[in-house]
Amino acid sequence: MDATDPAYGCRRCGQRLSRRGGELSCPDCGETIPIADGIPRFPVPDGVGESSHETFFDRLAPIYETPIWFRPLYRFLGGAAAPRDDRSMIASMLDLETGAETTITDDPDAPTVLDVACGTGRVARHVAADAGFVLGVDISAGMLERARRYAARDGSSNIAFARMSADRLWLEADAFDRVACCWALHVLPDVAAALAEAHRVLRPGGRFVGTTIVAEYVLDAAPVRAVARRAVGAEPFDVDDLRNHLRKAGFSSLEFDRRGAALFFRARAE
Ligand SMILES: C[S@@+](CC[C@H](N)C(=O)[O-])C[C@H]1O[C@@H](n2cnc3c(N)ncnc32)[C@H](O)[C@@H]1O
Ligand SMILES: [Zn+2]
Repeated sequence: MDATDPAYGCRRCGQRLSRRGGELSCPDCGETIPIADGIPRFPVPDGVGESSHETFFDRLAPIYETPIWFRPLYRFLGGAAAPRDDRSMIASMLDLETGAETTITDDPDAPTVLDVACGTGRVARHVAADAGFVLGVDISAGMLERARRYAARDGSSNIAFARMSADRLWLEADAFDRVACCWALHVLPDVAAALAEAHRVLRPGGRFVGTTIVAEYVLDAAPVRAVARRAVGAEPFDVDDLRNHLRKAGFSSLEFDRRGAALFFRARAE
């Protein structure tokens, strides 16, 4: 096992996967997971991998962090009430905000973080300096390729990325201290399964933090919601529905902070 390998778990038999040669393999059932360009590629549930929004995110990857995508869209959705940088708010909700940008903490008890639907790794990179280890998972190979490149550019040596679907994580139970899921719950085809997985991989008492969109402010307008739906299959939440989803998945101590159409949330895994 590579020292930096996270607790990848076999979904066929439950054993921990180990690295052998250029792949991950299960010592029990023989399942093998290829690793290409440093990124393990786990199987995704039928239909999820071919979805049109995966293709959309593959194409979006090169411009996602440039000034023409994330930031203006964030300002449009969040309005004047949204924090200048969503990542600072997310980091402080994760209790991971010392402001250190490049030096990785040497605290042996620094928390491990899973970033679900990490995209280009914006949030993963931001919190890495204060974390023991960060794993970013996403379905889009294009996004992950950018994520890997940007993390290498920034010298973030405690981040790894893997291709997985949020609703079927190849990770052992209780493996992480924190889970983040930012700007993604509204594009996932099976929100209940994704939340159940986030809960399963969090240690008891671990924190789940993220952002999603709600049908308020600019998304109160049906034509704007229609564009979001057509472009990426995005379905803004109703806050009460999201609260019910989180409770059903086993989360408690729910906190919500809405800024325009952007909803920041925090929960505790019981
Ligand atoms: C708007 S981006 C958010 C990226 C990142 N979390 C951020 O805050 O910048 C949404 C991400 O969700 C990913 N995604 C969509 N469906 C997914 C799935 N089933 N499993 C994992 N990731 C998924 C997309 O590939 C995309 O990278
Ligand atoms: Zn197995």
